[in-house]
Amino acid sequence: MTTQNLAYKPGLEGVIAAETRRSYVNGQTGTLLIAGYPLADIAGQATFEEVVYLLWLDRLPTAVELADFKSKLAALRPLPPATLTLLRAIADSGAPVMDALRMAAGTLSLDLDESDADALAMALVARFPTIVAAYWRLSHGQEPIAPSADLGHAANYLYMLKGERPSPAQARGMATYLNTVSDHGLNASTFTARVIVSTQSDLVAAITGAVGALKGPLHGGAPGPALDMVFEIGQAERAEAYLREKLESGHRLMGFGHRVYKVRDPRAEVLAAAAETMYRAGGDMALYELAKSVEQTAVALLEEYKPGRNLQTNVEFYTALLLHGLGLETALFTPTFAVGRVGGWLGQCFEQIADGRLIRPKEAYIGEMDRQWVPLEER
Ligand code: ACO
Repeated sequence: MTTQNLAYKPGLEGVIAAETRRSYVNGQTGTLLIAGYPLADIAGQATFEEVVYLLWLDRLPTAVELADFKSKLAALRPLPPATLTLLRAIADSGAPVMDALRMAAGTLSLDLDESDADALAMALVARFPTIVAAYWRLSHGQEPIAPSADLGHAANYLYMLKGERPSPAQARGMATYLNTVSDHGLNASTFTARVIVSTQSDLVAAITGAVGALKGPLHGGAPGPALDMVFEIGQAERAEAYLREKLESGHRLMGFGHRVYKVRDPRAEVLAAAAETMYRAGGDMALYELAKSVEQTAVALLEEYKPGRNLQTNVEFYTALLLHGLGLETALFTPTFAVGRVGGWLGQCFEQIADGRLIRPKEAYIGEMDRQWVPLEER
């Protein structure tokens, strides 16, 4: 369909709709750069606060700048009292965590000046883990745990979820996960956030909209089913028969294939390494070995059943394994994705605000052109 000689691209596939310095994604080579740094170099070394600083200011902080940034974020972690009251009411309704995050995100400007973009951005990043952890506990009949200012962002998130200070390996595993998903090109939720701020609306509105976009199964993904598949297989010897049966009955193997990546998703690479380190430091190593074996069998069978399609392991497969190893239930996987991605959403919002141009594409009109009005009594 065309209008004024412009071709309609369903899903805007191939359309360049923004310029960014935040992340570079190349699906053919399997490259993901975060502000110029290869993901593999940065994800397992940086703190999440460092990555957020990088995504917002396009450079790594000095030690003094990082300490200041961390302490400002830590001070903002507690929720406004009205947000907590709201979470208690939502917990009574039994709503999913992503719905609670979307509802609570909209309240985060209650104790802040809506025109102060920096303060809103800091509060959004600082408070996303507090919302998710508080809601998780409330919806399981437990009282929320107050944030601990002496823990880093990733460690404090685990602490607020479980009430125990995580081991260094667990804190590192969570930070690596959050860094890995912090930004990924112009995905649907990032685009949503950019569209909202392009109208000169505020950051809380943009991030609330982005949470709504991330919730959809085509975007936030479903790492849960990938893990269920590994559990159902149970033993490496059963993998081939199980996976063949799935493929022959027309099912997709969860955790494999990607619209952009035609080689192994670089995020899967980073998360597999993080999962291995964490499981070796005291996790269920048998589960890790089983997952590796299921992955190898699945990739080989996908090449056999779908030759030339280059169906490789995607980010969901090792997300599931890593987050499960950190003791998170599957209902927390997508909200935890949001806890990481909020850093990138805001970084891209700052770029959009600097760009200053309202995002307003065209649509192709495909309706009637020559209808005649019929009065109600004659229809
Ligand atoms: N298992 C089996 N076959 C597959 C898989 C899979 N996981 N993925 C794609 N295929 C097949 C399709 O059936 C299709 O075969 P056909 O042409 O013979 O009909 C071919 O490969 C191409 O598939 P498309 O759907 O066109 O590929 P697309 O790029 O649109 O799909 C997607 C990407 C949706 C991720 C797909 O690979 C999939 O469904 N994977 C499983 C679900 C999953 O892991 N989702 C998380 C993705 S990661 C994320 O969202 C962050």
